[in-house]
Amino acid sequence: MNHLTIHAEHRLNLIEPEIYGHFSEHLGRCIYEGIYVGEESEIPNENGMRTDVVTALREIQIPVLRWPGGCFADEYHWKDGIGPKNQRKKMINTHWGGIVEDNRFGTHEYFELCRQLGCKTYISGNMGSGTVREMSEWIEYMTFDGMSPMTELRAQNGHKEPWKVDYFGIGNENWGCGGNMRPEYYIDEYRRYQTYVRNYHSENKIQKVCCGPNDDDFHWTRKALETAYSGMPKDNHGTMDGFSLHYYVVPEGWSGPKGSATEFNEDDWYKTLNKALKMETLIIEHGKIMEEFDPEHIIGMVVDEWGCWYDVEPGTNPGFLYQQNTMRDAVVAAVTLNLFNSHSNLVKMANLAQAVNVLQAVLLTEGSRMVKTPTWYVFHMFRHHQGARLLRSEFIDLEETGSEEWKVPGLSASASIGNDGLMTVTICNLSVHETQELTIDVLQDKPCVQIAEAYILTGEMNHYNTFDHPWKVQEEKFQKYEVIDHQIRLSIPGGSIVMLRCNE
Ligand code: AHR
Repeated sequence: MNHLTIHAEHRLNLIEPEIYGHFSEHLGRCIYEGIYVGEESEIPNENGMRTDVVTALREIQIPVLRWPGGCFADEYHWKDGIGPKNQRKKMINTHWGGIVEDNRFGTHEYFELCRQLGCKTYISGNMGSGTVREMSEWIEYMTFDGMSPMTELRAQNGHKEPWKVDYFGIGNENWGCGGNMRPEYYIDEYRRYQTYVRNYHSENKIQKVCCGPNDDDFHWTRKALETAYSGMPKDNHGTMDGFSLHYYVVPEGWSGPKGSATEFNEDDWYKTLNKALKMETLIIEHGKIMEEFDPEHIIGMVVDEWGCWYDVEPGTNPGFLYQQNTMRDAVVAAVTLNLFNSHSNLVKMANLAQAVNVLQAVLLTEGSRMVKTPTWYVFHMFRHHQGARLLRSEFIDLEETGSEEWKVPGLSASASIGNDGLMTVTICNLSVHETQELTIDVLQDKPCVQIAEAYILTGEMNHYNTFDHPWKVQEEKFQKYEVIDHQIRLSIPGGSIVMLRCNE
């Protein structure tokens, strides 16, 4: 029997809503077809944005959307994406399929999308192949509210008022596709570029995100921060607000085939989950290095790319990274989000890669049709954690599960208390088939626990939603629990995710 103790009176830090963020790159069918279809499209849209996709992203309360890349960001020249659409310069998207990018979707369209979504903005600037001037003029174009050449240009293009840039990344993966730089070189450049990311408006303090490591590249983290802080006071003078981390779960590794998204066995299930759990080690170990330089946690950890990366769906363009999404992905998402909640004293933002039609997408589209993936349901069930206070919780006697080679803990969980006074508990059973019995002890002053609502996401390990069967995997009401005073007893089927909302 597994036990989870929740200290309902022991409120910890706020879980930043941005932990539930998403990422949209000019890659494959993410922006074009997936999000943006143009005003003339027969697919229902508002100012070119698919209504079904915008609605589905609003349903999961998308807090922030990162754009335009990814690797694409470091070859994106923003001036190509403004002005009359038929006069916009075309380019080759060299990273992703070598296709022609006609820049139909640019700065104005991105802000219109975020307006419709009601989410914060996170733009990745081009440091790899762009100039300081280009970056600084983009910031001026987007945020300055006085008279200047850039604001005149913005007004000419139909937007007199400035927009709000909440987060701005200085380059992306500059250790790789963003220029193959060494950390010392990158940070020297970072210091220069970020100087010109001006805060033009007192109400728009732009949070600057520095390119951090990939996976377990602790050398990058140490060298980058050493160089960033060299000659700087401990508060870094506001030169850096976020430090990114990228980590993808690739079942078979990067060197050959990565593994199928849908055709896998139990051993693959546990291997994938084991690799997903590495996220915790990465947060802790990179976090320790960050703390050496920044003991007061002024700089937040920004996991701005994460998720599962498999071989593309057979018959699709290998450069488009289109993959299906099963219950295995849902469990990876649940385990990872529980980890982000648990370490939300360090993790201040995270962006799943990517929102639509690319990698571990929450939505897939085909023509006018759209399906919500199992991962979408996880974000829907976990949405109550956004902006809530983390509660101290711990497992006692947690049983291990797994295959002979790949071991994982049987359960993962996190708990928070929202402004509405409701406690949210999200639990995931990592065992592929075995039902897990769990007793939750809620330590609180109130006389008893009451369940306001309970939902489950469950299915066979490789179940997924298709355009013909879009509801195969979906959230359902959960009933297999009983409450006795301060104790909740649950029976959670293998490979399932449960969300409880409890009254004060
Ligand atoms: O998300 C796909 C790609 O993965 C991004 O463009 C890049 O930043 C990362 O390597």
